[in-house]
Amino acid sequence: MAFLAFKPISTTASTSLSILILLLVFSLSPLTRSSPEGEPTPTPWPHQFHAILFMNYSGILQKIDLWYDWPNGRNFNIIQHQLGKLLYDLEWNNGTSFFYTLDSNKECSSAQVEVGILRPNWLDGATYLGQKHVDGFLCNVWQKVDFIWYYEDVVTKRPVHWVFYTGREAHVMTFEVGAALEDAKWQAPAYCFDKQNTNAAGSAIADIGVLRGSVAQSM
Ligand SMILES: *[C@@H]1O[C@H](CO)[C@@H](O)[C@H](O)[C@H]1NC(C)=O
Ligand SMILES: *[C@@H]1O[C@H](CO)[C@@H](O)[C@H](O)[C@H]1NC(C)=O
Repeated sequence: MAFLAFKPISTTASTSLSILILLLVFSLSPLTRSSPEGEPTPTPWPHQFHAILFMNYSGILQKIDLWYDWPNGRNFNIIQHQLGKLLYDLEWNNGTSFFYTLDSNKECSSAQVEVGILRPNWLDGATYLGQKHVDGFLCNVWQKVDFIWYYEDVVTKRPVHWVFYTGREAHVMTFEVGAALEDAKWQAPAYCFDKQNTNAAGSAIADIGVLRGSVAQSM
């Protein structure tokens, strides 16, 4: 069992992140734990992909554009609340995350954690739970550290669905392997670097930090 030191910069975003990280670093299973004979193992994430996710958290709906970019050490969640706010959650492998809007409110907050983004093999060591139909697809199901339940299409090996311990559900609508967002889009706005800025976009997105690289620390 290990606890990560956590240096909060903003209170709200970092609190939710720190809880998630603590949950994830509990189990320190070996990197190459072999699964019991014949059990399927999760397909590693492609090093770059774009996915559109529909999220449902107790009836609150969001659409997320997820841009995973392992070679460049960055991960982006662009979160559209239904008929509401558009929020940007930009995570760097050096542990810095920025949460911001790009509207006239100029909200931004940041958080600092001591782990990077999710590794492509972050699902290694997950517990296999068998097969289940979800969203109309027959899936293999794994559980990782009591934190996430992950559903992968048996045939195509693409992720279909995942559920966080909070009950927050992701439904994978598109999954474009190799898709990469242009560099210019990965720039947090200037007001994120303004020490006077007290707006906190992060407070609204709570457990979005779930795709944080903290899982890697548990392997
Ligand atoms: C969202 O989840 C709730 C249960 O938490 C469910 O009742 C509702 O039908 C779901 N909404 C959609 C659009 O899937
Ligand atoms: C991490 O990288 C980002 C993007 O280059 C940068 O804005 C941020 O300041 C860095 N954080 C630290 C702690 O160096």
